[in-house]
Amino acid sequence: MYTGKKVRLRAYRKEDLSLRLSYINDPEILRTIVSDIPYPLTLQEEEKWFESISALQDTYKFAIETLDDLRFIGGCSINDVDWKNSTATIGIFIGDKTYWGKGYGTDAVNTLVSFIFNEMNIHKVRLTCYALNERAIRCYEKCGFVEEGRLRQEIYKDGRYYDKVAMGILREEFLNLNT
Ligand SMILES: CC(C)(COP(=O)(O)OP(=O)(O)OC[C@H]1O[C@@H](n2cnc3c(N)ncnc32)[C@H](O)[C@@H]1OP(=O)(O)O)[C@@H](O)C(=O)NCCC(=O)NCCS
Repeated sequence: MYTGKKVRLRAYRKEDLSLRLSYINDPEILRTIVSDIPYPLTLQEEEKWFESISALQDTYKFAIETLDDLRFIGGCSINDVDWKNSTATIGIFIGDKTYWGKGYGTDAVNTLVSFIFNEMNIHKVRLTCYALNERAIRCYEKCGFVEEGRLRQEIYKDGRYYDKVAMGILREEFLNLNT
């Protein structure tokens, strides 16, 4: 369990799944986290996903829980680790929209990135984000991520094409901001 200022990152529990499903199937969230056709997920798929999580691998999924009322509000993940080049790719969603814009996402990203730099000894954390997702881009910028490039018209949503934005933060940059 890893604790920030507003949230902690903990292992998923089976009882999180139905709430997680409702978060992920919210069209506003689905459009920001999937690049393919946003069909709703089923509880059966969620259960299979849950069974696939293991602490005995590089990639990992954390549930995000509020510190004040222990509410499960979303999830974040280490999606990919390249040990040779020392990079890790992350993702996040705050599924309870009443918590958006209140600093929970920023705190969860900071807690996750701190874990990656301090516990995994990784050199760079990276992510990609759709250009339409200005809230997420702002959240990552607040954590110290910088835009490193854009894949033009990479994503088709709502009847038009959007750029995909690549962002990253180096260990030294994160430590300078957080010590
Ligand atoms: C993206 C997400 C994780 C951010 O979490 P959050 O708790 O809402 O973020 P925070 O409150 O920490 O920060 C959001 C910032 O964006 C700003 N913001 C909100 N809407 C914005 C917009 N349309 N344009 C620009 N900035 C915006 C907020 O004002 C805040 O900045 P501030 O603190 O300087 O005022 C969360 O909104 C979420 O999960 N969204 C759905 C899933 C998703 O988009 N995941 C990321 C995929 S890359």
